[in-house]
Amino acid sequence: MLSEKLLNEINEQIGYEFYSSHLYLAMASYCYSIDLDGFANFFIVQAEEERFHAMKFFNYVNEMDETVTIKGLETPPSDYTNIEDVYAKTLEHEKFVTSRIYKLMDIAMEEKEHATISFLKWFIDEQVEEEATVKGILQKLKRANGDISIIYSLDSEMAKRVFTPPTV
Ligand SMILES: [Fe+2]
Ligand SMILES: [Fe+2]
Repeated sequence: MLSEKLLNEINEQIGYEFYSSHLYLAMASYCYSIDLDGFANFFIVQAEEERFHAMKFFNYVNEMDETVTIKGLETPPSDYTNIEDVYAKTLEHEKFVTSRIYKLMDIAMEEKEHATISFLKWFIDEQVEEEATVKGILQKLKRANGDISIIYSLDSEMAKRVFTPPTV
């Protein structure tokens, strides 16, 4: 059993997680268009992770014997200046998602909804990790300052990323 307020916000969050997945696929597509296939792979894996996040909320709502409402998605932006711009926008988006998770946690705490507090902790940790990963890559891209040989070596690094569904 969840309050109407919390259920509505979780339903909204499911929409944001699916939108994140959509956004990262749009970014992957942009990366392919500028021949950075490794970076495209990074965003394809990221899109899968976001879908996993959405499903984690989806399953939680069902476990709590409530009903998920699936809503339509906005078209994500597909035009970027360069690969650095893509990561700057990713960081901006992840910070927004972190603020959303905090909002959910604030409501759960106000309501003393202990099961949801416990559930949301995973997402708090996940956001720390996601922001750190994106910041790290953005920093390297800033330092590269458009140097194509450095960008290609980062691209080969990004090609190695694989999606492994978290076990928790
Ligand atoms: Fe997410
Ligand atoms: Fe994310």
